[in-house]
Amino acid sequence: MSTEVQQRGTFGRLGFILAAAGSAIGLGNIWKFPYIAYENQGGSFVLVYLAAILLIGAPIMLAEIVIGRRTQQSPVGAFLVLAKGVAGGKLWSLLGWLGIGSGFVILSYYSIIAGWTVYYFGRCLGWAMNGFTAADAANLGSSFGSFLANPEMQLTFHALFMVATVGVVMMGVKAGIERTTFILMPILAVILVILVVNSFRSPGFGEAIHFLFHIGPISASGVLEAVGHSFFTLSLGMGAMITYGSYVSRKDSIPKAGLTICFLDTLIALMASTIMFSIIFAVPVAERADTFQRSATILFTTLPRMFFALPGGGVLSPVFYLLVAFAALTSTISLLEVVVSYFIDRRGWGRKKAAFIVGAGIYLFGVPSALSLGYSEALGRVAIGSREGFFTVVDYLASNWMLPIGGLGISIFTGWFLAGRIAREELEEGHGPFPLFAVWRFLLRFVCPLAILWIIVFVLRGGAF
Ligand code: PFF
Repeated sequence: MSTEVQQRGTFGRLGFILAAAGSAIGLGNIWKFPYIAYENQGGSFVLVYLAAILLIGAPIMLAEIVIGRRTQQSPVGAFLVLAKGVAGGKLWSLLGWLGIGSGFVILSYYSIIAGWTVYYFGRCLGWAMNGFTAADAANLGSSFGSFLANPEMQLTFHALFMVATVGVVMMGVKAGIERTTFILMPILAVILVILVVNSFRSPGFGEAIHFLFHIGPISASGVLEAVGHSFFTLSLGMGAMITYGSYVSRKDSIPKAGLTICFLDTLIALMASTIMFSIIFAVPVAERADTFQRSATILFTTLPRMFFALPGGGVLSPVFYLLVAFAALTSTISLLEVVVSYFIDRRGWGRKKAAFIVGAGIYLFGVPSALSLGYSEALGRVAIGSREGFFTVVDYLASNWMLPIGGLGISIFTGWFLAGRIAREELEEGHGPFPLFAVWRFLLRFVCPLAILWIIVFVLRGGAF
């Protein structure tokens, strides 16, 4: 085995599914999905989301894994290899660069939110030991505000999360990424199941289920948000799955792995929503108003109060925040790996050096975001249109522009430019005949690009989601 191959590594059979599911399952499922589902009145939004996962997310998921395993390269190299002799040639590798940029940008603010979950894990432990008083409950909103405005706190927890992420990526694909997800994912599943079973007993459970699955009205921006979120939640559009796909063994089935990841990701988003809504709906309607005015921060400003109103909340709440932190860690690892694998594959850097330098760069790029949430007025005023604050602007650029454009490029490249023979070979190797091939290609050629173009046009015309 050459040193290069040793540095790249390969996943074991279950390793890829766990690592890729670990990448997909994260703050997008536990923090973001429940609150955007709430803002869009649940029900139909959830249905559209499910359709988006199936018709747009799943085909692009398979496309990314196909590209990765075929080329055994991270995104820039992968497109350079596959685009040989194809119209556009080397220009396709811009998609790889866009992916590296997206990984860099997303990780810079994702790690800040992930840091909050660690902080709230500690706070819940403290409340569990010292008691959660009425004053603590009343001050949740303001204490979260002062936490955001405290630069030392923000930078420390951001640093903590980046150090953990860099540490795992430094250890490599098998010893670091695969082993970490092997340990964390089952723990996460067990904690989630305990919390879901616990929510059966909540007086809010029936209403939560009704809310999530009833058919109701949905706005155009709700549909767009569902489609846009399907990218973020499945880690698509930036080459994370190309990168992980490059470590997949040729004996594995890509369709099986890809669809399992989509299924698990969706299941976790629905479980997390059931848990959160069961807690929230257990509170009388009159007391819910403030919850939803701050829907984006429910996780920190409301949930602790509701946890501590439940029997066993002192145990459940720290466990819950720990779960969110684990879920976030298996996602931050993949974000960093996309950028790091470029330096290993294309620049010949050692893994440790690449992880350290890239991690430090991303940390620094995250500093203005961390300070824009309450500490620095100037950074809080940076704006694009109605979006104010460095953090918000960076998130907007990555989620509304970079990922959809990346997804558009990947679906067009795989649907129209990659030889059908190559795609079929990859999908069938380790799997056997793949009768859905024509459906997959149709979705990639027509449905995915049109849906994404629709989002882009909507955003260009000033629409927000
Ligand atoms: N899928 C992750 C989540 O839902 O939290 C976020 C993410 C990870 C996006 C990795 C993109 C990525 F490459």
